[in-house]
Amino acid sequence: MQLFRLSATMLVAAVCLFMASGVSTETVTTCVDFDDVVHRLECEKGVISVESALYGRANSFICHEGKPTHQTSDTNCHQSGAENFVKSRCNNKTFCEINRVDVSSEDPCYGTYKYLQTNFTCIHTKTTHLFACQESYAHLKCDYGMDIYVLSANYGRNNHTICSANRTPSQIEDVTCSNPTPIVAQRCNGRNSCTIRASNSVFGAPCDGTYKYLDLTYACQYPTHC
Ligand SMILES: *[C@@H]1O[C@H](CO)[C@@H](O)[C@H](O)[C@H]1NC(C)=O
Ligand SMILES: *[C@@H]1O[C@H](CO)[C@@H](O)[C@H](O)[C@H]1NC(C)=O
Ligand SMILES: *[C@@H]1O[C@H](CO)[C@@H](O)[C@H](O)[C@H]1NC(C)=O
Repeated sequence: MQLFRLSATMLVAAVCLFMASGVSTETVTTCVDFDDVVHRLECEKGVISVESALYGRANSFICHEGKPTHQTSDTNCHQSGAENFVKSRCNNKTFCEINRVDVSSEDPCYGTYKYLQTNFTCIHTKTTHLFACQESYAHLKCDYGMDIYVLSANYGRNNHTICSANRTPSQIEDVTCSNPTPIVAQRCNGRNSCTIRASNSVFGAPCDGTYKYLDLTYACQYPTHC
């Protein structure tokens, strides 16, 4: 019994190690010597998920070479909004490039030599794109041991031909029915499989009179929490 418990613990540890190796944190640090210096994030496999980002200085050692101490001693310098900007620019992309000027037009700490640093993970993915016509179910499913991670979901219509068979022209003419929804992510993220109905009862009734569909992209990833 004791032996069994021990091996069960070891098994869990081994599985966690395996999963952790599927999602590793990467760091990119760019010393901001001039305004248009390029901060580039890239995932060889999968898509970027930004964990944290800093424009300023939180450490006197990073990017200190050749600088006088007074330019590197303020370690409490953060441009607010920098992290949200990097997230909006880079999340779900395979790569992204940012200039200092994109992040900030102000100077959060005049006289301090600053850097841009981002910690991110690459979410290893097999992405699936699917459509579910109004009143159909969307079935999301990942391989054993992997979790659903919704990348985008729109309940509406952006295309004339999708879900159009035998519909009257007035029901399919509005292709500007954009209605991104967080509901699929709320219900399905972190699960191995998930079924959700493409209907007004679930998503509300945008674009009255239009026959809609759920346009969904999701990834399968190893769980990030151990
Ligand atoms: C990135 O991660 C490293 C290591 O955990 C940490 O020291 C650093 O402060 C992080 N950077 C940001 C911008 O959060
Ligand atoms: C990108 O991923 C985030 C989660 O990191 C998600 O909330 C968001 O809806 C996604 N956006 C797009 C455009 O795929
Ligand atoms: C609409 O969808 C069809 C089928 O997927 C595709 O071939 C076509 O390019 C799309 N049209 C537009 C305008 O996106």
